[in-house]
Amino acid sequence: MLEFRSLSLFITLEGIEGCGKSTQAKRLGTRLTREGYDCVVTREPGGTPIGKKIRQVILNPDHHRMFPETELALYFADRAQHLREVVWPALEARRIVVSDRFTDSTIAYQGKGRGVPLRSIRALDRALTGAFRPDVTLLLDLPAAIGLPRARRRNSESETHSKEGRFEEEALEFHDRVRAAYLAMARREPKRFVVVSAEGAPARVHDALWTALSATKRLPRRRRKKT
Ligand code: TYD
Repeated sequence: MLEFRSLSLFITLEGIEGCGKSTQAKRLGTRLTREGYDCVVTREPGGTPIGKKIRQVILNPDHHRMFPETELALYFADRAQHLREVVWPALEARRIVVSDRFTDSTIAYQGKGRGVPLRSIRALDRALTGAFRPDVTLLLDLPAAIGLPRARRRNSESETHSKEGRFEEEALEFHDRVRAAYLAMARREPKRFVVVSAEGAPARVHDALWTALSATKRLPRRRRKKT
């Protein structure tokens, strides 16, 4: 009989607009479940009922007057709730958590994109999350010149996305800065980050992600139980 070890492992997916993160988070969750791991797929912003309301406020394209500091506080409010309501309880129950975005998004978007001082981000991070970090971060890397038009096309074709387009309205240079910030973080923390090209078809990107995740050796192998 096959038996699977339960384990607590926190995996995050990161990347710029249009890199296909959400699709890959779902696929990864399905694959982990198929392989017998107990896993939960979640996201930021909006991984809890309260977070969904915060998400609507942050991403509403009509909110042109939102200051970078307000934006920062709202992302951390969402995260404070998400960690306590979803992520930490799941990890305590020895489940794998796959989160579509986490604190690295704040460092890349609000820090390098908007220019909020990193010390403000660090202060909130320490106070509200205890500077909690993922075990593995999968960075789906894509030039902004490819990702941004993809994201804008998706928004114009979907009613939900058309109400969440505040970041897609930013210029290409903003998204270039976000991408560069992610790549710099990956260079600084090579043990946590795995960089995968997001340019291919979803099935190929998934295979590359899975191979890279397996290579980290963070997923325990299946054991065969003696019967
Ligand atoms: P997401 O739902 O992942 O959108 P997309 O699928 O378009 O990438 O994230 C919504 C937006 O929120 C996205 O533009 C990135 C932004 N964001 C931040 O700016 N800071 C953060 O801390 C997080 C979590 C997201």
